[in-house]
Parts: sequence; C-alpha cells; structure tokens
Amino acid sequence: MRIVVLVSGSGSNLQAVLDAAQSGQLDVQIAAVGSDVDGCGGLQRAEAASIPTFAVPLERGASPQRRAEWNRELCAAVRSYEPELLVTSGFMKILSEQFLTSVGAPIINTHPALLPSFPGAHGVRDALAHGVKITGCTVHQVDAGVDTGPILAQAAVEVREHDDAASLHERIKVQERRLLVETLSAVASGQIHLGG
Ligand code: GRF
Repeated sequence: MRIVVLVSGSGSNLQAVLDAAQSGQLDVQIAAVGSDVDGCGGLQRAEAASIPTFAVPLERGASPQRRAEWNRELCAAVRSYEPELLVTSGFMKILSEQFLTSVGAPIINTHPALLPSFPGAHGVRDALAHGVKITGCTVHQVDAGVDTGPILAQAAVEVREHDDAASLHERIKVQERRLLVETLSAVASGQIHLGG
C-alpha cells in the first residue's frame, strides 16, 4: 500500500513505520514524508532513509484565508505522490474539511490518549492533570473534527506515581509505535476497511 506520512516533530512514530517497512514486517511503500515544519526531525529521518520529503510551512497566527490556502498547497503536495492512504503522526495542524474531501485518500492519525478522552494538542498533559491511573493511545480515522473520527485501535498505558508529561509520553509512544505499525498492517492487508 502506497502511503504518505505527515509529521511536525521528532518523527519517532514515523521511524517505527520506516523500520517496519524496510524490514519487510509492514507491506507499505512510503512514497513521501511531509511536514508543516521545515527541517523537523521527521523530515530528517525520511531523508536519512532516502525517502522523498516536502515541507509546506504555515506561520503562527495565520489568517483563515491563509490557512485555507495552506490546506490547498498541502493537499496538492500530498496528491502529487498519489497515496492510497495518508498517515498523520505527530502532525500538529488541523486539516480542513476541503482538504479531507480533496486529498483523495483516507487518513489515519495517532493520538497519545484514549479517545474520546483528552483530545487535542495536549492529551498527555491533560490526562496527567486529571489524575487518571490509566491512559494510552489511539489510532483513528480522521474526519473533520479534532481527534473525533472512527477509532481503529487503542492501547492502555499505566500512569506511574512520579510521572511527568515527558516520562508518561515516552511510555505512551512505545505503545503508539507498535499500535500504528499493527494498524497499518491491518489496513494494508484489508483486515481493516476504512470508510470513504
Ligand atoms: C505522538 O505521541 C503523537 O501521537 C502526538 O505527538 C507525538 C509525536 O511524536 N501527536 P513523534 O513526532 O512521532 O516522535
């Protein structure tokens, strides 16, 4: 299955997909890796693996008109690689409804909390602040909401007494990487059918 991956940060989840694809564990071809952050860790990991990369930066505080234009630019960049599936993992921008309907492929996303609990950009911090004893991660299909699409897979992660957001997030990422590879494998093999 031909995929494009969008990242914004270090790309450790992307690295897990890269490694699984290169080892033959995962039957996907990563056509390209894109980001809204030029030079981010995820793009560097893709370049190190000789995978095409692209960046479509979006400045902070962009106007609605500029965001709409950015969505169109990003959509065109993704479509140019003709993916069968788009994966957002550590991608920190909300994609517009127009993007979703124009990109021509279903999208799956990873989130470091047990949705529907703790959606949004601070799921780990919010779970910790709430005092939950169990949190985790979710792989879901992206719809026009924020972390609201159909849930495909989840894994539980215990919160330990002396956890801070960083230590808890690192523990969640271990499960997240496993879950993302397993879910991609299930989608690629047809075990999971994604809605249009
Ligand atoms: C992941 O936990 C992802 O779910 C969240 O941000 C983190 C990105 O980590 N949105 P990385 O960039 O894959 O290392």
